[in-house]
Amino acid sequence: MIGFSHSSEDLVCDGVALSAIAAAEGTPVYVYSAAMLRQRYRDLDAAFGDYPHAIHYAFKANSTRALVAELKALGSCVDAVSMWEVEVARAVGFAPRQIVFDGVGKSDAELESAVALDLKAINVESTGELARVEAIAKRQGIVARVAIRVNPDIDAKSHPKISTGLKINKFGIPADDVHALLPTLKTRASLQLVALHVHIGSQMTSMDPIHSTAARLLKLAQDAQAAGIALEYVDAGGGLGISYDGGPVPSFRDYASAFVDAIRSTKLPIVVEPGRSIIGPAGVLVARVLDLKPRTASTEFAVIDAGMTELMRPALYNAFHLIEPVKARTGALRQYELVGPVCESGDVVGRDRMLTPLDVGDLVAIRDAGAYGAVMASNYNRRPLPAEVLVDNGAWRVIRRRQTLADLLALEA
Ligand code: LLP
Repeated sequence: MIGFSHSSEDLVCDGVALSAIAAAEGTPVYVYSAAMLRQRYRDLDAAFGDYPHAIHYAFKANSTRALVAELKALGSCVDAVSMWEVEVARAVGFAPRQIVFDGVGKSDAELESAVALDLKAINVESTGELARVEAIAKRQGIVARVAIRVNPDIDAKSHPKISTGLKINKFGIPADDVHALLPTLKTRASLQLVALHVHIGSQMTSMDPIHSTAARLLKLAQDAQAAGIALEYVDAGGGLGISYDGGPVPSFRDYASAFVDAIRSTKLPIVVEPGRSIIGPAGVLVARVLDLKPRTASTEFAVIDAGMTELMRPALYNAFHLIEPVKARTGALRQYELVGPVCESGDVVGRDRMLTPLDVGDLVAIRDAGAYGAVMASNYNRRPLPAEVLVDNGAWRVIRRRQTLADLLALEA
């Protein structure tokens, strides 16, 4: 069985006991399943069938080198959101033409190097940014490959903090403005429009907004054609949700079909930028119970050694992550409020959870933490970034060591 499952009483990752990893590496520790990561990538890839497509894995979800190297070996390309992500991708061996560069606020320095690298596309988010790219390309004497990120005014029906497709959101150029912009692009010799791009949000759990996005992409591709522009591909962004709580989410097949069915008539290849749906379920955060204390007549606090510093999602978005004891004790279920060690009341990892009895020293696994977990960790309270471990083929290895006090102080005078 691939991924995380119970073997006798122990929670295991691809056959390796999480308790063994925690005993050797300490806690908190992120643990990833290489087999599950590979399987999810392959399943999404296969869902497009033989229709031309490219998966540009979104580094922002998790770009630890060993993980993205796995994806590279499977044929993945890259969606980067800063020049630092671009450079990490290059350090792992990705070619510039395998990288699309997103982001609503790219600095001049970032644009200078992005243009010089001749990436697959710089996804521009405003007419001002387009003009800046044009000026830089002129100065460098090259033609910049750009995609326009279109704001389609579509509701992703996700959490407001991660919905990006409405007019009121800061992202992209409004669809009407793009319509007017397209014909002018033919005369701008330093710019080559290679694609149109839409990303309306993350953690989408219904097909509605996905179908709307696909229909909008088709319309945009047709508009470009009518304006005499030969696009190389369309970019459908990322955003497919995963099931944190066991509720239904669209399958890779339904997701891919929505785009293939809509775009097929244009024959244009489809680029997608998935992050969470590839890596999210392939990681857990393992933590240890530090303390137990009464809360209300019927509930207890379980203070664990991972909190908003290691996994910010619950505190930031009220996000739900399943939490389970690594070794379940016998006894009736009890109600716990699982909280982190950080000095804020908002540092709650799991509210009102019914679990088998916990004891101080027990391990718990916080599930589906592979995406937007380790990458969003911070040093608040001077807490070191946690270690990350990859389980592959029955063996495990540290792919990022835990930060040390020396690491923390190294930057300071
Ligand atoms: N493409 C663009 C332009 C994006 O902005 C994003 C995510 C993606 C692709 C990848 O989306 P995904 O397939 O992972 O949904 N920290 C938040 C999620 C922020 C998503 C930001 N953009 C969270 O923990 O839920």
